[in-house]
Amino acid sequence: MQQSYSKILVTGGAGFIGSHLVDRLLKEGFAVSVIDNLSAGRRGNVAHHHDRKDFHFIEGDIRDTTLVPKIVAGVDAVFHEAALVSVPRSVENPLLTNEVNVSGTLNLLKASVDAHVKRFVYASSSSVYGEAETLPKHEKLALQPISPYAVSKLAAENYVEAFHAVYGLNTCCLRYFNVYGPRQTYGPYSGVITIFVNRLLDNEAPLIYGDGKQTRDFTYVQDVVEANMLALTKQSATGEVFNIATGTQTTINQLATMLQQIMDKTNLKPVYAAPRLGDIKHSYADVTKAKDLLQYNPQMSLKDGLTKLVKWYAASSQAQRTL
Ligand SMILES: NC(=O)c1ccc[n+]([C@@H]2O[C@H](COP(=O)([O-])OP(=O)(O)OC[C@H]3O[C@@H](n4cnc5c(N)ncnc54)[C@H](O)[C@@H]3O)[C@@H](O)[C@H]2O)c1
Repeated sequence: MQQSYSKILVTGGAGFIGSHLVDRLLKEGFAVSVIDNLSAGRRGNVAHHHDRKDFHFIEGDIRDTTLVPKIVAGVDAVFHEAALVSVPRSVENPLLTNEVNVSGTLNLLKASVDAHVKRFVYASSSSVYGEAETLPKHEKLALQPISPYAVSKLAAENYVEAFHAVYGLNTCCLRYFNVYGPRQTYGPYSGVITIFVNRLLDNEAPLIYGDGKQTRDFTYVQDVVEANMLALTKQSATGEVFNIATGTQTTINQLATMLQQIMDKTNLKPVYAAPRLGDIKHSYADVTKAKDLLQYNPQMSLKDGLTKLVKWYAASSQAQRTL
């Protein structure tokens, strides 16, 4: 593995998914650079690597057209995780979402072509499917993004594909479905699992938007990291787009019940609020393509993943779980 690629850049590497990817890459023997502006990520997520010679942290912005080419020069592969990651936030601030998620990606793609990067792996999102009615969602479906966030993730994906077609950049897009696990920052823009766990820890009932019958495909962060490693090394990944999920469907009501049982908080009955703008009703993935071409095989059941997450919270301080 290390023969073809030795230096890797992870954008957004101080964030939730990026920092787990950094851990794995360093463990596998790669030299890793991170660019992160710490708008959502935390230095603490990668602080355990700061003394290593093969780890380099750059506090900077992916939109910086002077800095990014300097950082990408000499890099073999780029994992592009940095983004403004939230549907509600994108509804509040669509222009900033576009700048970071689209222009930032374009800046990285251009620098990657100029630096002859050998592999560019892009963190896309299930949100690109939007309200497409077919379930499970498969990669050939017509895309109908319904939030500024989803549009920005799709626009960036289209740029990635254009750079593969036009400049021959060796790309791969991974559409993650609702990723959860340790280190996701808790705040108004967090994923539902992180919000539910934190509310339950504070003895607050789960807050459910809509009737709770909406479904999601919850994917443990280590399965996402594994998919990225496969996307780095498999030739069959080149120029392709893959769903990265578990292929199972869980309602938000089921999720709340499962977490309450694991955390022994069944006395806190969920409270319901109006559905949020831009949220889709159902989302779960067909992962056949990733299984066939990448040999991707998700390992973590929702129950086991939630149990692991709850144990992580029990061992973490308040400072580690909030921004
Ligand atoms: N978490 C999920 O469920 C999920 C689902 C689908 C897709 N994704 C995608 O996965 C990627 C990682 O998401 P995450 O959940 O780890 O989010 P995150 O917010 O924890 O990580 C994103 C990181 O990018 C950094 N960042 C933001 N803007 C930046 C900028 N302009 N320059 C440099 N760094 C910047 C943030 O500080 C943060 O550390 C994102 O591209 C997201 O769209 C995530």
